[in-house]
Amino acid sequence: MSTIETERLVLRPFRESDAADVLEYLRHPTPNCFVGMKLDSLDEARAEMVKRSADAEYCFAITLKGSGKVIGEIDAEPSTYEPPMLSSSEDAGAKEKAPPMPDTFSPCWMLNAAYQGKGYAYEAAHAFFDYLFTRKGVRRIFAYVDDYNVRSQHLCEKLGMRNEGLFTEYVSFVRDAEGNPVYENTMQYAILKREWIDFNSKP
Ligand SMILES: CC(C)(COP(=O)(O)OP(=O)(O)OC[C@H]1O[C@@H](n2cnc3c(N)ncnc32)[C@H](O)[C@@H]1OP(=O)(O)O)[C@@H](O)C(=O)NCCC(=O)NCCS
Repeated sequence: MSTIETERLVLRPFRESDAADVLEYLRHPTPNCFVGMKLDSLDEARAEMVKRSADAEYCFAITLKGSGKVIGEIDAEPSTYEPPMLSSSEDAGAKEKAPPMPDTFSPCWMLNAAYQGKGYAYEAAHAFFDYLFTRKGVRRIFAYVDDYNVRSQHLCEKLGMRNEGLFTEYVSFVRDAEGNPVYENTMQYAILKREWIDFNSKP
């Protein structure tokens, strides 16, 4: 089991007893990309915590030192990117079997609104990136961020991530009143391990 400690926080795997704290911010998750994470009851939250506790390496509760309160979460998934050289029709079978790239991860971060604007997200994400690059052998981290999510863009930039571009009307998570998909414009940010080392060695 992995635990990451910073000046004010402990990042650790989820436990069933975290349900009430997590329900506080997942009753009404924002932005739209998190709509699928919505929890409606304590029972639902407990079941979700049990599921999450199975991942003790890449899925962490962000907790306050001292009180131990869960104020948010940070996790990372391996990329399912498929190498282009496997995209021709004769290689279709091989493409289906292509494994996730274990050296490329995409993080997701969220704080309870009551704890935003206090530097906790940066403190957690910085320590988490360091953990991924130095302890988990990660080579590249990339993040998708909605074009209106200025706080998350700012966090990416503070972490030294490069803006790699904007995908226009890339994905839809919700429908409008008429039932039509609402498309999001999605920015991509990324940082390589060597860039992380460079960025953090600057005074
Ligand atoms: C994205 C998100 C995690 C960013 O959280 P955040 O609290 O704004 O981010 P930070 O930790 O960087 O803190 C922001 C501010 O706290 C301030 N702050 C206050 N006290 C501080 C302290 N003791 N130390 C450091 N910073 C402090 C800083 O001024 C900082 O602003 P700055 O970077 O302009 O200096 C948060 O907005 C969130 O959970 N959003 C909803 C979910 C979401 O959008 N997830 C991402 C989807 S792509």
